[in-house]
Amino acid sequence: MALRDILIHPDPRLKRMADPVSEITADLERLADDMLETMYNAPGIGLAAPQVGVGARLLVMDCVKEEGAAPRPMVLINPEVTWASEALNTYEEGCLSIPEQYADVERPAEVEVAWTGLDGAAHSERFDGLWATCVQHEIDHLDGKLFIDYLKPLRRQMITRKMVKLKRERARA
Ligand code: NI
Repeated sequence: MALRDILIHPDPRLKRMADPVSEITADLERLADDMLETMYNAPGIGLAAPQVGVGARLLVMDCVKEEGAAPRPMVLINPEVTWASEALNTYEEGCLSIPEQYADVERPAEVEVAWTGLDGAAHSERFDGLWATCVQHEIDHLDGKLFIDYLKPLRRQMITRKMVKLKRERARA
């Protein structure tokens, strides 16, 4: 396993629609392993392939927060929301591609998601709480959408300017 570099917004690769995965290859398995390691290392609770520069519909997540609880690493290939609750939930979201910026985002409180696993089998599960927010946030990444796209333009521009500055500083370092 290896850590991958996480792209920082703004980057055109974060704005593209990712391509469906047609075949589970050794490369894809390695990508999923690397993404999980990169996510845990960050640390974060979710990571989508476009964030490491790969335009494929694959995401990883683990929203287990309780101290001492067993981790639950999940790999979702070609995930799709098949049902969403009318009830909404607001979470203060962040993103590994937008470090240290957080904002309230309102999304369906519960969603049912269908996906293909690394085993090639079809899976479906209903998510609520933080898991529901996380899986929707990560699926958005596959559609080239960031959580700041839900914010008012002024706030979004302010965050984007901060990220441009951050990237400039990192490039200099
Ligand atoms: Ni994100």
